[in-house]
Amino acid sequence: MTKDFDNPVNREDTWSTRWDLYADKDIIPLWVADMDFKSPKIVQDAFQQRINHGIYGYTEIPDELNNEIVSLYKKRNWAIEKDWIVWLPGLETAIHQIYKLIMDTQSVIIPKPIYPPFLNAAKHSSKKIIFHDLKEVDGRLVYDIEKLSIEAEDNSWLMFVNPHNPGGTIFSKEELTDLAELVIEKNIHIFSDEIHSDFILESDDNHVNIATLEGMKERVITLDSLSKTFNIAGLNCAYAIIPNSSLRRQFQNLFRGQIPPPNLFGLIATLVCLQDGDSWKADLIKYLKTNKDFLIKEFKDRKDVHFIEPRGTYLFWFKVLNTDCDDLKKHFESFGVGLSNGKDFGKPGWMRLNFGTNLELLSKAVKRMHQALDALT
Ligand SMILES: Cc1ncc(COP(=O)(O)O)c(C=O)c1O
Repeated sequence: MTKDFDNPVNREDTWSTRWDLYADKDIIPLWVADMDFKSPKIVQDAFQQRINHGIYGYTEIPDELNNEIVSLYKKRNWAIEKDWIVWLPGLETAIHQIYKLIMDTQSVIIPKPIYPPFLNAAKHSSKKIIFHDLKEVDGRLVYDIEKLSIEAEDNSWLMFVNPHNPGGTIFSKEELTDLAELVIEKNIHIFSDEIHSDFILESDDNHVNIATLEGMKERVITLDSLSKTFNIAGLNCAYAIIPNSSLRRQFQNLFRGQIPPPNLFGLIATLVCLQDGDSWKADLIKYLKTNKDFLIKEFKDRKDVHFIEPRGTYLFWFKVLNTDCDDLKKHFESFGVGLSNGKDFGKPGWMRLNFGTNLELLSKAVKRMHQALDALT
């Protein structure tokens, strides 16, 4: 199966956000988080079946899809109820909408670094924003609970991402428990983006939904989607899990009539991937682990690069040391590699590399990166 992931797929002229940015330049695009892999064949087959039917009218969420989500969470050790699921066209939309639900008297805690839409949404809100700098401990980006307990205001909202983008941290049950204690003490609500939860690259890690911890269920909105795992981000299909009925009603009202439901093809793809996608997913994770190991081998001896080992996601978060280059993104582009700028994640000086591509292209990009780094010193 690994062979499939090795085969390069030409994405030019396919309206790809990732590839179109550098359409007429020799720049390998390793920025926005989608992968260069074809989705599993079961998705194409399911689409074909629907295309043969030929009608694409207004669509209801099929009950079997809700049942599959319930089964998925059972495997993740969380017994959710079907009624708790709220279908959405995407997480980014929800990240912006949530500010309408947060009262003016409540502040919002945003850890840094973080997936940029959390920062963009905050910019457009009138709420008080409290930034919390994640700290590096044993090569992992984690919360500084002691500091957070001083920074966090009672009755606030915490924007939480686990596995973390861009740092790839998979928070352990102990870490989540420490956070939960503080959250309960201060009556904080959590907006928990868990879109990367399938990307567990090391067998000794385990993704735990923070809502499953004691006393947390009623204060967490969990967001998820199959869009990262099966590379179907263009299909607009995601969901929230909200056990608290009052919170759920308010959240649903934010969307009703204003934000469209998921796309029909997104629903189809999500359903078949839940039903039959497990073996493809297992092969994907193996492939990404190989890519990750390759990156670590390439950069571990460089004195001018400091990186966080990605335990989850397919994102490599690194900092270039001892340089006065004030535009690293441009610098890497001039050597033919397109990366995400750490500034957009709240951490200038850092860069993010997306390694969801075939190893051959990744190797070519890394060669160029070595040249770019050598040129800085
Ligand atoms: C942490 C995180 N949340 C949300 C998203 C985007 O979700 P959606 O495509 O459903 O808006 C991404 C995409 O990169 C992400 O990394």
